[in-house]
Amino acid sequence: MSPEQMLKSFPDQLDWEKNDTDLSTYRTITFCGMGGSGIVADIAKSWMEHRGCKIPMIVHKGYGLPNVVDGEEHLVVCISYSGNTEETLSAFSEALRRQATVVCISSGGKLGELAGSNGVLNLEVPQGFVPRFALGFMLSKLLCLLGIDREELEDARENLKSLYENIKNKGEEIAQKLYSYIPVIYSTPLTEAIAYRWKSQLNENAKTPAYTATLPEMHHNEVVGWENAELRNKLAFLVIFDPKDNDRVRARVDITIKLLKDLGAVPVVLGGDGNSYLSRMFHLIHVGDWVSYYLAGKYGFQPLPTETIDRIKREISKL
Ligand code: PA5
Repeated sequence: MSPEQMLKSFPDQLDWEKNDTDLSTYRTITFCGMGGSGIVADIAKSWMEHRGCKIPMIVHKGYGLPNVVDGEEHLVVCISYSGNTEETLSAFSEALRRQATVVCISSGGKLGELAGSNGVLNLEVPQGFVPRFALGFMLSKLLCLLGIDREELEDARENLKSLYENIKNKGEEIAQKLYSYIPVIYSTPLTEAIAYRWKSQLNENAKTPAYTATLPEMHHNEVVGWENAELRNKLAFLVIFDPKDNDRVRARVDITIKLLKDLGAVPVVLGGDGNSYLSRMFHLIHVGDWVSYYLAGKYGFQPLPTETIDRIKREISKL
């Protein structure tokens, strides 16, 4: 499948299915996953927090597990598209050792096998994609596990479909602005996961260094770096916000834009389009995906291969 076909399939990957998991029995939820699978956890956690979930949630990107996970009242969700990522496999083994309740999301691989041999539920997603282009499949499984209503997921999907041409065009327009600069993506608490998705997509698809910072924290450090005009001029600034961000955060978004303009920068400012937080997140995610696709084209890169990641995986597996 071509990268364009994978990218285009995002809205159709969003599919609701019944899941009867009762989350109220858990004291914590820990999501484990790396890269294109780990971002699924970041997005789901943001969504859960926005809807008022009171269970402490941790996104764990690394080996082992946080200390708090101990026993069956702790839910651990291990997400790995390939099923072969060693950090996620390590988290899985540790979750079994600590007798946590475990659910996996993968297209198979070792994680799928281990889930099968240990009687653990593996919510299986289709093979044949690269992880970051299977976001919709993995996210649907996770959101359904976390109790999303059918209507909310389907509404977000239809919103994406209705905005489709506009999203693609926006992606192309922004790619043009980022070309030959290092993108820096500024976000708010409600769009932090989206900014990280943008950064990762720009890294992996467009083979471009990209960095993020989040309000309000960035008003206490990042902004001072702007005083260095020599380096500032190598950056392209994006500011991503959500209309439901805290009022003081929104005021800080406006100040950020004003300061950048005063310095002669022309930031790209983007708010998600949609009736729900989820719809707006999907909209922003998909704009970013297309930006990375078009930017890859401008630099003459193929979006799918990630040779440096593959090389590191090979090297670490020998040790
Ligand atoms: O997008 C990618 O290909 C990577 O970021 C992978 O997602 C990452 O290396 C982890 O692999 P997996 O998603 O198969 O666990």
